[in-house]
Amino acid sequence: MTTAKPSTAKPSTAKPSTANPDTTRPGTAGPRYPSRWAKAAGLVAVVFLSSGCFIHYKQSAVNPKGSVARQLNNLFWPVFWIAVGVFVLVAGLVLIAVIRFRARSDDEAPRQVHGNTRLEVMWTIIPALLLAGIAIPTVKMVFDINRIPKNLMQVDVIGHRWWWEFDYKDPAHPQDVLFRTANELHLPAGQKFELNLSSVDVIHNFWVPNLAGKLYAIPGRFNHMVMDADNPGTYYGQCSEYCGTSHANMRLRVIAQTPADFASWESGQQAGPATPESADAVTGAQLFTTKGCTGCHSITGISKGTVGPNLTHFKSRSVFAGSIFENTDNNLRAWLANPPAEKPGSVMPNLNLSAAEIHGLIAYLDTLK
Ligand code: CUA
Repeated sequence: MTTAKPSTAKPSTAKPSTANPDTTRPGTAGPRYPSRWAKAAGLVAVVFLSSGCFIHYKQSAVNPKGSVARQLNNLFWPVFWIAVGVFVLVAGLVLIAVIRFRARSDDEAPRQVHGNTRLEVMWTIIPALLLAGIAIPTVKMVFDINRIPKNLMQVDVIGHRWWWEFDYKDPAHPQDVLFRTANELHLPAGQKFELNLSSVDVIHNFWVPNLAGKLYAIPGRFNHMVMDADNPGTYYGQCSEYCGTSHANMRLRVIAQTPADFASWESGQQAGPATPESADAVTGAQLFTTKGCTGCHSITGISKGTVGPNLTHFKSRSVFAGSIFENTDNNLRAWLANPPAEKPGSVMPNLNLSAAEIHGLIAYLDTLK
């Protein structure tokens, strides 16, 4: 890489010495090879990039907490150990060859070998058998995972830049949406759900590593996946397809509950919004309309905006803005003062609200439990 820099970036300043192929050999003047520090930095980067595999991290694909993730994990480990075996064998043989057959003097030529039929047949057949051994369970699993049982509870998962919308469908009439929420996907533990993935803008990718594999959310179509969680708990997820400025801020949580807790959450979500009572909250409710919030946000019976998250039960959620902030008054204050400063690229603009207006809006939002 470094050899190309002088000639491609600044052709006019390329010196003849760097263009001379002889100087590309180590030990001569000319291009510089990565320093020990650069190599160390590269190694650290690799460790961090592979840290998605660490078992105790919040988002780990090798710590399954649901049936789909467990299936994937059961396929991953045998394939991983086969790969480790191949690596050790090949790297070991290379190492032996490098050490045992190294040049010992300048005029000594290595023994010349032309073909070895038995070896060539062996190193063709063994990898072919290994690949077939990996392919059979892999293809079987692709079909298994895509076989979606009938009559599951359904949630439409809609990607937006940069947050996730969850539309719970009516089991009796799967065409109808019962209620909409955002950022936190609630499920009863131990029960399979069908998630229908789509997007309103660009391609996103829905991934909750502890529960299931990743799947694209593509505008104009639905992709389907099954998800379940063994036990109640909170599981963390992330958009895993680069989708613009705040891709890294497009997170989500899956909240698995006991069936009773889920039922009570579900009926709460279907209820209408609370009526504001305190003077501040009443003022906030008026500001919600006069400041134009209604154009983007829905509150049942008040507004029908679809650009931003449905706020009917905003305060029942523990996070907001793509799950990057805990749902506290302090965080809301900072958010309402200047959303794009809090989440780069935020579609919600800076509305230049005064401190008093922000105070009223927060008082109102706090009632929307
Ligand atoms: Cu959505 Cu990345």
